[in-house]
Formats: sequence, C-alpha cells, structure tokens
Amino acid sequence: MPAVIIVGTQWGDEGKGKATDLLADDVDFVVRYQGGNNAGHTIIVGERTLKLHLVPSGVMYPHVTPVIGDGVVLDPGVLLTELDELVAQGLDVSKLKISGNAHLIMPYHRELDRVTERYLGRQKLGTTKRGIGPCYADKAARVGLRVQDLYDMKIFRQKLDVVLKERNAVLSRVYNRLPMSSADIETEYAVYAERLRPYIADTMTVLHDALERGETILLEGAQGTLLDLDHGTYPFVTSSNPVAGGALTGAGIGPKDVEKVIGITKAYVTRVGTGPFPTELRASGGGQADAATGEEMGRVGQEFGTTTGRKRRVGWFDAVLARYAARVNGLTEHFLTKLDVLSAFDTLKVCRAYRYEGEDYEHFPPHQSIFHHAEAVYEQLPGWRDDITAVRTYAALPKQAQAYVEQLEELCAVPIRWVSVGPERDQTLERDVHT
Ligand code: GDP
Ligand code: IMO
Ligand code: MG
Repeated sequence: MPAVIIVGTQWGDEGKGKATDLLADDVDFVVRYQGGNNAGHTIIVGERTLKLHLVPSGVMYPHVTPVIGDGVVLDPGVLLTELDELVAQGLDVSKLKISGNAHLIMPYHRELDRVTERYLGRQKLGTTKRGIGPCYADKAARVGLRVQDLYDMKIFRQKLDVVLKERNAVLSRVYNRLPMSSADIETEYAVYAERLRPYIADTMTVLHDALERGETILLEGAQGTLLDLDHGTYPFVTSSNPVAGGALTGAGIGPKDVEKVIGITKAYVTRVGTGPFPTELRASGGGQADAATGEEMGRVGQEFGTTTGRKRRVGWFDAVLARYAARVNGLTEHFLTKLDVLSAFDTLKVCRAYRYEGEDYEHFPPHQSIFHHAEAVYEQLPGWRDDITAVRTYAALPKQAQAYVEQLEELCAVPIRWVSVGPERDQTLERDVHT
C-alpha cells in the first residue's frame, strides 16, 4: 500500500499544514522528511490553532503516528518545548518517532547562521536564523552530530570536540564572537537525550514494516519547490531538498511505494526573505497601484511568517512556477489554497509566461539572470467579489471563481483536486478529477 507525498510548489507557506492535517484523517503515519524548525505549519480546527515547527501535522489524530525522518535537522530544545506545548493543549504526543539518523542543530549552528547573515550584508538571504544552513553544511562536510550520538556520550564528546575547535576559531577570529564551551553543550544535550529517549526509533524499518502491512504513509514536505537547494532559486533557497525526490531520501523509502504526489499551491504567491519574485506586487515593479494591491492581499491573507513573524512578500499566481513544480516533483494533483483571499479583488491576474529580451518563456528559464530580470506576462480574469468562505461544494462557487480555478488547471496541466476557501478543515471543496 502506498505512500503519498505532500510538497509545497512555491516558496513555502502554501498551506501544507492545513492540507496535511486534512488528508491525515485517512492515513497511519505522517512523516516530516527534511528541513527543521525553519518551517511553520499552521493547523486550525475549531477553537484550536496549532503552529507546528518540527512535529508533523497529523499529530491531532490519535490514530496517526508522527515521524521525524532521517533527512530532518532537529533542534532538541525546540522540539521539547513544542512537545510540552502540545501536551499542555491536551494532545497525546507519545506515538512520535524520531530517526536516530536526523542531524542535531547545535548552538554554534544558530550562532553561525546569525553572524554569517550579518556578514553578507546586502547579499543576505534573510534566513530564519534557526541554524539550518550551518547544520546541513556540517552534514555534507561529514562533521555533523546525529540524534543517535546522544546515546553514546563518549562519541558525542569526541565529535563535538573536533568540530567545536574549528567552529570556535571561526566564531572568535572571523566574527569576533565568544567561543563556546564544549562541556556546557554536552551538559545541555545530555538532558535532552534523556527526555527524547522514549521517541527514538529505527524509523526506516518502522515505515517499511508499515508499508508491508498495507498501511498508508503521508510524507509532509516543509518549505517549497523554489526553496529547494538543487531546484530552487539558488542561492536564495534553504539547505535541504523539499521536492518529492527529497521525500524518498529523507524518509528512506523508494519510488515504487509512492502512489501520489500532491502539490500544495496557493491561489497567489508569497515569499519570505530575499530573492527574485517575478509576479511580486511592489511599488518598484508596478507603481503605487500594485503596491496597494499587494498590501491588500497581504492583509486579507494575513501573510505574516509563522516562524519569524516577518511580513511575507506577495504576488499574483505564477503558472511558470507551477509548471516547473509539476515537472520537478512529478505532481499527480494540486491542492489549491486560499482562494477566498482573492474575493477582495475586482480583477485577477495570472502570469502565463516570462518575457526577457523579446522572448517568451513558458517554462522555467535555464539561467538565473533571465529569471532575475524576467517580466511577467499576464492574463486577466474577472474577480467574483463574494465571500466564499461558507461555500461547501465546488458547484456552489461563483462562476468566476470556478473559471479562475479551471484556468489555473489548464495553465498548469495538472488536475486541481481540492480547493480551500478558509483555514479550517471543513473549508475544503473536493472536485471530481481524473489523475
Ligand atoms: P505552510 O507552511 O505551508 O503549512 O503554511 P503556513 O501555515 O505557514 O501558512 C498558511 C496560512 O494560511 C496559515 O495561517 C493557514 O491557517 C492559512 N490557510 C490555509 N489554507 C487557507 C485558506 O484556504 N484560506 C485562508 N484564508 N487561509 C488559509
Ligand atoms: P514552511 O515549511 C517560507 C526561507 C527563509 C529564507 C530561506 C532560507 O513554513 O513553508 P533557512 O532558515 O531555511 O536557511 O532560510 O528560506 N524559508 C521559508 N520560507 N516558509 C518556510 O517554511 C521557510 N523555511 C525557510 O525565509 O528566505
Ligand atoms: Mg509556513
């Protein structure tokens, strides 16, 4: 029986938390496969709002086993605080399983994330400063510490001493910061080790045994396709692979077990941090009118970062990115979110291609300079202006809203199976589509 991958198709914050939580009703496992607490996934059910950073969405269902897979970078202090908060809200987190292969975010990773961003000045990425990049860099350099190292303190100390010697030299001599004490870090992490012990598992084997029993696994991506280290808008990306391929390495399963790849796609686009964004609504692109539309979209969509509280940049839907995401991830269907936010506008724009030096690009351009300087070529569609948040069937949507959805579907050439009209579980319309 199958695994299903859920992946963001834009620059993150597409509504993966809502979609995962909704679809988790029918599955046995929900697995986070990459990223760390740079993610912020919001789930709203009735009066309850959960903002999850490391715990997989799906934790609300008692029948679901949440799994933190091999490809995740884990800040143990942050995870324990998140677990405490979930328990305080009355949730049972005892089923959580954590891979011993996940890498540990260490205090020097967080510090290096902060100081290197400062050092980059105008070239900075606008990271979440959670230590993600430095932790993945150590993983690739083979000097990282993993969750399993917490259970052999002799090895933990040996590895820490080696890496900290070099990191302290960099922190003090390059960045003029105080060196860190290996004894203090060891004491801190030994406490985490004891608290995390009940959750540690051989998650790869757990998942394969489940697949053999015919159980179902939802693989929950963090970030999004355009933030992918290999396939995103490098260097303005995160340091992991959110794309569907990353789900396989990050969870330790092969392609034959994957039945569906669902792209979570916002009805417009947002981005946090720096980097190119062709359909961005901003004064320097389209003047004051565009800036005002962008302000309104951000206000209605409440586009503020779940993790850092930063204001998200906003723009019109971009079909070039959606087509790219369909290819890179092998999408079988889309889950379209936040259609209700577009009720605020009389006219809607959809980017169908980029124009650069007189040439139109319907597919993602091969060179970053084209992407950086591309002008969006738009189609205009009429808005509907009605509040659609109480609509519960696709057929009951205003005709203009249906036309908008169907236009996106045609431009992206991937069926849109779900249309979300609000943050709650029941604000989701399912369409009858063929995949
Ligand atoms: P994620 O990182 O992809 O999980 O997305 P975030 O949780 O960071 O951001 C998405 C935000 O939009 C959250 O606050 C959700 O509660 C909210 N949301 C999700 N779907 C909808 C929708 O269809 N309409 C509206 N208005 N809000 C939504
Ligand atoms: P979810 O899972 C939106 C962005 C940061 C920055 C870049 C690199 O909620 O969709 P990092 O701290 O990862 O080294 O920062 O990536 N970023 C996100 N943007 N949603 C996220 O996660 C993000 N995680 C990282 O803003 O531009
Ligand atoms: Mg988010």
